[in-house]
Amino acid sequence: MCGIVGYIGQNEAAPILIKGLKKLEYRGYDSAGIAVFGDGIHVVKTKGRLADLDQKVQQQGGVKGMVGIGHTRWATHGAPSDVNSHPHTSMNGRISVVHNGIIENYLQLKAELEEKGYVFASETDTEVVAQLFDSCYNGDMVDTLIQVIGKIRGSYALGILCNEKPDEIVAVRKDSPMLVGLGKGENFIASDIPALLEYTKDYYLLNDNEIVVLKKDSVTILDMDKNEIQKEIYNVTWDISAAEKGGYDYFMMKEIMEQPKAFQATISPRIVDGDIQLDQIQYTNEDIQNINRIHIIACGSAWHAAIVGKYVIEGYARIPVEVDLASEFRYRNPILNQNDVCIVISQSGETADTLAALREAKRQGIRILSIVNVVGSSIARESDDVLYTWAGPEIAVATTKGYSTQVALMYLLALKFGQVRGHISKEDMQMLVKELQQIPDCIEKLLSLQDEMKALAKAHAHANDVFVIGRGIDYAVAMEGSLKLKEISYIHSEAYAAGELKHGTISLIEEGTLVIAIATQDQLYEKLVSNVKEVKARGAYVVALAKEGNTEIAEVADKVIYIPHVHDTFTASLNVIPMQIFAYYVAVERGCDVDMPRNLAKSVTVE
Ligand code: G6P
Repeated sequence: MCGIVGYIGQNEAAPILIKGLKKLEYRGYDSAGIAVFGDGIHVVKTKGRLADLDQKVQQQGGVKGMVGIGHTRWATHGAPSDVNSHPHTSMNGRISVVHNGIIENYLQLKAELEEKGYVFASETDTEVVAQLFDSCYNGDMVDTLIQVIGKIRGSYALGILCNEKPDEIVAVRKDSPMLVGLGKGENFIASDIPALLEYTKDYYLLNDNEIVVLKKDSVTILDMDKNEIQKEIYNVTWDISAAEKGGYDYFMMKEIMEQPKAFQATISPRIVDGDIQLDQIQYTNEDIQNINRIHIIACGSAWHAAIVGKYVIEGYARIPVEVDLASEFRYRNPILNQNDVCIVISQSGETADTLAALREAKRQGIRILSIVNVVGSSIARESDDVLYTWAGPEIAVATTKGYSTQVALMYLLALKFGQVRGHISKEDMQMLVKELQQIPDCIEKLLSLQDEMKALAKAHAHANDVFVIGRGIDYAVAMEGSLKLKEISYIHSEAYAAGELKHGTISLIEEGTLVIAIATQDQLYEKLVSNVKEVKARGAYVVALAKEGNTEIAEVADKVIYIPHVHDTFTASLNVIPMQIFAYYVAVERGCDVDMPRNLAKSVTVE
């Protein structure tokens, strides 16, 4: 959601900014723009895609200058339009600003500025920052930024240019992501690492309200009292190819295919001689024994991983687990007790609602364990303990390997907690760990279902409604599979607990309605077969997912996809694979932009 790139150095800024923004396209956007300091500040911006921006830049004969800021905007205040696009410039053209986040008190600030004679061109909250900066400007960018920070309320990552300061960019962040890339004779700001990778692997992470003064040969970080802060240099451990499509049409398919590797990378360092070791977190056996209740908080697919977590943690560790949507948790005045633990799940580690929920739990003194993919992200840094999912960079908006690795960590926590609390025998533990280690191979096997899922997708690409049903863990996967379909193919799809369907929703089943029935819980298999019969009797076309060997379902369903026969616990990691591939091919068949679905953003940094 909104991408920021800033560059200062010895090369032309415009191509670097546009290229960097391209690497941030995955975040979701509807307009884009750049401001480059050459002979004064030159702003080019447009509604639409980066290709449109590039074309506009070319039409203007290129934009010359070695200092600049760029932005992809995901509309919040004001519709996507040329004028609402960033960068925003103060009325007199002195200040240019790119912003990610929301300035909550912008209307009040706008009124005050209008009284002073400032005239606004756009409907955005960001233009207020540009005008405010200009009204506070005293010749010193840092002083002015400190004044501005004192006046604005909300979340922000800001990159600011001034036409009186050709050799510096100032920047700051609060509750919105931004990092600083460190080059030789050139430096960068960016919302995320892929924008920097071509130029440098070294970067600084920023804490809230740390002020960055970016020059060609230096980066200075200051606190709000202008004291210099010494920062640790982080180094990107993955290669640029990890953030490239590598021959696939879309990142999503590449990431689907990477799941065996990602799953393996997440579990294998934590299984030593058949024993689960979570050394990265500071939980003693006594701590684990004393856990009273677990609250798992997340959004989107991470919330679905949390629901799998509830089933497996309650099942093995016998600890009550509550699962909350972050946006609900933060406002529902949750009841938290001293020995409760809060598990926060987030691929990006920057989701605004999840971060706010984490802070609410922390405010109440609850210990936070986060499960995060992006190293050093806000959620990781604000947690007491972190378990990283080693999925590597995930670019497609619709998560696949991110989700799978989150589920992998749910298994590890459930088994570890269950063992420490004495609910799993030594033999069972050995058997379960052994099976868990085989999951990457099973996923690999399912990845070969491409042609079958493609054909199925072709046959159902024009469905109006799809229902995905399951019980227990299968229901959690039904939710994730259904979300995938909605996100990227725009088909109305609903997940239902199979037993609940008859309490209302079955009225929507008509002749030919596609129902995907996930039937991979041994204990619940017969019940699911009955549910399939119920929808078949109403005319549904049923595609079932079942374990190899469970062939009875073929007698009632129209088509069966078989998954390898694994313990019920781990089926979530397998069922989701055909669902992802199906959603992918339905989206391709319908001509949708798989990696950048309409209206969605990868990293949702506003509430
Ligand atoms: C967005 C993405 C989803 C993701 C959710 C939570 O809505 O489109 O794919 O599941 O955010 O993101 P997080 O980074 O916190 O896991």
